[in-house]
Formats: sequence, structure tokens, C-alpha cells
Amino acid sequence: MQTIESVVAMQNLSRAAHRSGRTIALVPTMGFLHDGHASLLREGRRRGDLLVLSIFVNPTQFGVGEDFEAYPRDLARDRAVAEGAGVDVIFAPPAGEMYPAGYQTYVDVERLTLPLCGASRPGHFRGVTTVVSKLLNIVQPDVALFGAKDYQQLAVIRRMVADLNMPVEVVGMPIVREVDGLALSSRNAYLSPEQRQSALCLSRSLRTAKALYRSGERNVATVRERVTAVIAAEPAAAVDYIEFRNGDSLEEVAVADDRTLLALAVKIGTTRLIDNCLLGEE
Ligand code: PAF
Repeated sequence: MQTIESVVAMQNLSRAAHRSGRTIALVPTMGFLHDGHASLLREGRRRGDLLVLSIFVNPTQFGVGEDFEAYPRDLARDRAVAEGAGVDVIFAPPAGEMYPAGYQTYVDVERLTLPLCGASRPGHFRGVTTVVSKLLNIVQPDVALFGAKDYQQLAVIRRMVADLNMPVEVVGMPIVREVDGLALSSRNAYLSPEQRQSALCLSRSLRTAKALYRSGERNVATVRERVTAVIAAEPAAAVDYIEFRNGDSLEEVAVADDRTLLALAVKIGTTRLIDNCLLGEE
């Protein structure tokens, strides 16, 4: 396994791989890897001859007052996880490689970025789509893998790749959860043991919604009431949003079907967590 920090060196290695007929799978991350990332790496290992893991805490997707500085970083640990997952190349550029002096180009996806996290975190998706475009141009993967916990991010990236005719297959992978239901996230590292218990209200409320849907309830207002009550029962939780959207267009829905997305953003103390499910999924 090798680590590359330079954009040009990464591009040269990718070009050479393609010239020799090898396919490339890319797993873009901000590091502090957990089992969710490991599942992306396993699938990437299966799909590409060369498996590239990018680790870059991208400053442009963090707003003012967000946790860019505090975001957990542990490259030594990430290297060990990557080695175990069969990664061939870690691409870990310094910020100056990605955004050198004079940088002024950004990629914006329009409607899909307006609701949900786009409304709560203005500019966030512009940073995500910009850095993902850059990573795709640098690594030139045949396939890029993303987790479904960031459901809107995955939808936005799919849209961008289609709209800009980028020659890459985008693969979404299911959310990985702890046995008690907590969705894996690098930000879980911020939670105290008590807050971690409180954070279970997110997955609990998703289970409640799915059970209601399975029992035949289709009125979104009724499901929302129950979800809100489950989260409100947890004193440490403050709702950012509870939204029911079409799983493809992300437009609001009043009547639920199998493709209805329930998306949550909830603050536990100062830690903002997101989670989601499609009501029709098992
Ligand atoms: O999901 C993430 O970790 C990041 O948003 C991504 C896709 C690596 C872009 O910085």
C-alpha cells in the first residue's frame, strides 16, 4: 500500500493503471474510518483492480462555526484499517494541493441541494460536489462508492455525475449500524457515553416509522407525529429536521409509499447527527 499526497503523482498513477488495462475503484472519505467505510472498501476491493482510498477533510464543505478544526483525524489508525481492507493507494493531499492560492472554481447542483442538509448547512453541498469532482478528475475511477447515511449527498453526487457526463459509476452502499441501531459516523466520536445512549432516539424513531408504515399507515402527518414524539421523549435531543421526501426527487410528500425517505437531523448536545430510511425497506 502506498500513500500519495501529490495531485500530479496520483493522476500519473491512475493513467498508468488505465493504460495497463486495470480498473480503479475510489472510496472518498474524510478519514477517521469506521466499519461503514470498511464496507465501502470491501465493495470497492471487489469492483476495482486498483483500490484507492482518499482521505481529505474538505474545508469547503464546512460552514462558519462548524466542526472543521475539531473533526476527528487519525491517519495512523486509518492506514491500519486501509491496509486490512486491501487498499492499494491512500490519496491524502494537503489542503494546498486541492485548493492552491488563486483557486476559484466551484460545482453547484441546484434543486436537490435546497432542502434538508442544504437548508441547514448553506454552502455544504457546493463544497461536497466541488471536492468530489476534483477527486474524480484526479483519481479517474471507473467506480466510486458512497454510503447511504448521507442520502442527500449520494443523490446530489449521482445528479452531478449524470449532468456533467462524468465517466464513473456511482455505487451507494447501505447504512452500517451498531447492534443497538446507532448509525456509524465519524462524528459519533464526539458523544459521551450518556449522549451515545440519547442518540439511539434517531434509529428508534426510524424503526417506529417503518413499523407504522408496515401496519398500513400512509398518512405522513400521522407518522411524523409519532417520530416527533419518540425524539421528544429524549431530553438531550434537539430536532434540526424531520422530513418525509420522495426518495428520488427529494420533493416533500404527504402520502407515503415504499420510496418515501424519512430523513432526520438531530442535535445531541453540540453534535449534529443524521440518519434516514426508506419507509418500504426491511
Ligand atoms: O461523505 C464524506 O465523507 C464527504 O462528504 C466526502 C464525500 C468524502 C467529500 O468530502
